[in-house]
Amino acid sequence: MDQLFTLPEEYEALRESVRALADKKIQPFAHDVDANARFPQEAFDALQSAGLAAPHVPAEFGGEGADALAVVIVIEEVARVCASSSLIPAVNKLGSVPLMLAGNAEQKKRWLSELAKGKGFSYCLSESEAGSDAASMKTRAVRKGDGWVINGSKKWISHAGISEFYTVLASTDPEKGSKGITAFILEKGDAGVSFGAHEKKMGFKGSPTREVYLDNVEIGDDRRISEIGAGFSLAMQTLDHTRITIAAQALGIAQGAFEVATKYAKERRQFGKAIFDFQAIQFMLADMAMEIEAARQLTYAAAAKSERGERDLTFFSAASKCFTTDVAMKVTTDAVQVLGGYGYVNDYPVERMMRDAKLTQIYEGTNQIQRLVMARNLGIN
Ligand code: CAA
Repeated sequence: MDQLFTLPEEYEALRESVRALADKKIQPFAHDVDANARFPQEAFDALQSAGLAAPHVPAEFGGEGADALAVVIVIEEVARVCASSSLIPAVNKLGSVPLMLAGNAEQKKRWLSELAKGKGFSYCLSESEAGSDAASMKTRAVRKGDGWVINGSKKWISHAGISEFYTVLASTDPEKGSKGITAFILEKGDAGVSFGAHEKKMGFKGSPTREVYLDNVEIGDDRRISEIGAGFSLAMQTLDHTRITIAAQALGIAQGAFEVATKYAKERRQFGKAIFDFQAIQFMLADMAMEIEAARQLTYAAAAKSERGERDLTFFSAASKCFTTDVAMKVTTDAVQVLGGYGYVNDYPVERMMRDAKLTQIYEGTNQIQRLVMARNLGIN
């Protein structure tokens, strides 16, 4: 019983060191990154030199070999001060999990060791007409000799243009629908790969989101990482592992907003006392703390299931993403409320956190899709 619900010491030590790094080297730039919609280069440099830009990469390829819970803690602590920066480890994990799950030894060595050195890895599933209905994608990969020619375009691609590598899902047999999709790795320098304009987003302004255009991209079969036709299932398995990183991000955003709101409530005086002393405010803060803690337990449990590859991972992954991102939206909205007029202007970070929280309810599958995934997986354990 002694250790039940207590994180082993190494995770608390990791949290402490990431928090110190985030407070010192990421937080000071968070406002500027958002205000100028610029890539958080300072965060990337700090994370890369600490081995945290892609901490999940196994040690044999030069990475830290961080397990799923350790990656969650890294992302949570970075998101607590800057959500855009927390996408660096999250996108790198999303882009490379298909390779880790399905690639051969040579492919893993080739791309994972470059990822560990700081080359980014993006994930290209969505298209303009294939968002929630991912299997309806139109991007085509057609056989040419021993290799493939890929044509199409991918939308909403996080870190497009920054990343060196792209996991691309393409239809190799449109008649077969989800059973006719295959996964490939493309490189930024491949002839025929280009990028669209930067999306002008409500939040996560520091993370570039662009379209990826694939115009007669010719590649060898050594770029194919899934079995032919097994790409969609691989894409879904990937999301089972990585939706938890979005939960982690939302958890960090909520925690950050809660801390700002609590500090403010204790300092702000109205009617002759700190507003924290009014029950109306106390109850809001108590609800925030309760919901964040519940979200944390669910997210950490999902991470442990990801690490152990448990049968109910699909349910837990969707549940952690859905629950935690809904909590983040509520907590950040209430944090703005606690700060009143000061919350609505960008002198304080809570309005940024509220804008950032909104995306977590949308990407890596909307929360409506998460509920659909949970419903389809009820009773599996
Ligand atoms: N693991 C393994 N295989 C799976 C699976 C899973 N979790 N989920 C589905 N599959 C398999 C199914 O078993 C099925 O194969 P069988 O017929 O052999 O059983 C096949 O895939 C098709 O599955 P479905 O019939 O369930 O497919 P569907 O068309 O109904 O779609 C969906 C399912 C859950 C709605 C899916 O399309 C989905 O998740 N949509 C949301 C897309 C999404 O999350 N996009 C995120 C983009 S990435 C992003 O946002 C990142 C970023 O910027 C940072």
